[in-house]
Amino acid sequence: MIQTVSVIGAGTMGNGIAHVFAQHGFSVTLVDVNPVQLSRAMDTIGKNLDRQEAKGLIDAAQKAAALANIQTVSNLNEGVAKAELVVEAATENIDLKLDIFRQMDQAAPKGCILASNTSSISITRIAAVTKRPDLVIGMHFMNPVPVMKLVEIINGYATQKEVSEKIVALSRQLGKVPCEVNDYPGFIANRILMPMINEAIYSLYEGVAGVEEIDTVMKLGMAHPMGPLQLADFIGLDVCHSILKVLQEGFGNPKYAPCPLLTNMVLAGKLGVKSEEGFYTYAHGSKELMVSSSFKK
Ligand SMILES: NC(=O)c1ccc[n+]([C@@H]2O[C@H](COP(=O)([O-])OP(=O)(O)OC[C@H]3O[C@@H](n4cnc5c(N)ncnc54)[C@H](O)[C@@H]3O)[C@@H](O)[C@H]2O)c1
Repeated sequence: MIQTVSVIGAGTMGNGIAHVFAQHGFSVTLVDVNPVQLSRAMDTIGKNLDRQEAKGLIDAAQKAAALANIQTVSNLNEGVAKAELVVEAATENIDLKLDIFRQMDQAAPKGCILASNTSSISITRIAAVTKRPDLVIGMHFMNPVPVMKLVEIINGYATQKEVSEKIVALSRQLGKVPCEVNDYPGFIANRILMPMINEAIYSLYEGVAGVEEIDTVMKLGMAHPMGPLQLADFIGLDVCHSILKVLQEGFGNPKYAPCPLLTNMVLAGKLGVKSEEGFYTYAHGSKELMVSSSFKK
């Protein structure tokens, strides 16, 4: 039974993954090269636990226990030294992930399962830089992790069946619903979601409709809880851009090429919620939706 988990990367996803494991009694080491991200992540986890307590989902003792289950470290070797499972949730960049997996393979105990939360990068490719490709798997949590039920489990070419079974059972232990898929670009979630987001951005770029109209059509017409442009802001426009490039290159099909407007926004540092501006502006928070001044009519 896995009890000791390390999470690599303390950004949007890493803090949520650490939160959920800690809340379910696992001993968690959260690792990030950037100490500022580590303290920000502990802050976010504290606030999200407060929110769960206010809603009556957990009590004060459970909140304190969850926080006590998390320690933070900025050194990767130290961070994975005792892990039985590592969930890597660092920046979506292939070279960075390959480096992290090479290093984790050296530093993590024999038998430790190495999982990646990548949105789109090939698990088979990541596994191939380790000496334990049979123990490498995709564990794709959704944002926000404490709220969203799905975990897309990605079986790489060499992933052992017993490893998939363990990760499926573990996901259920976290109160999640696991769904197993095979390792092809974008897996299922992003292969379907990203072309929709890209098409929404193209509709804006070509002047078919404004930000609010596009999101309203998809919310009210398709019963989506959030429009595609708002969702892109939440995911991070840089993350959306990287995933589309992976789909484009992986399938060799130009239909996945990111819309030039998306590319420009990423180059300009308008990344959505995390930079306080994307299609909407978030300087005042994210509760009330305000279209960014760049797209106001
Ligand atoms: N944002 C989403 O909605 C979402 C959803 C599902 C999956 N993902 C995937 O999760 C992963 C993380 O995405 P995110 O949105 O949390 O990114 P993010 O930019 O919010 O956080 C990434 C973190 O990784 C850290 N990092 C970079 N290099 C590192 C290293 N060598 N060692 C340790 N930490 C390092 C950074 O300091 C940063 O804190 C990506 O693979 C992404 O594709 C993202």
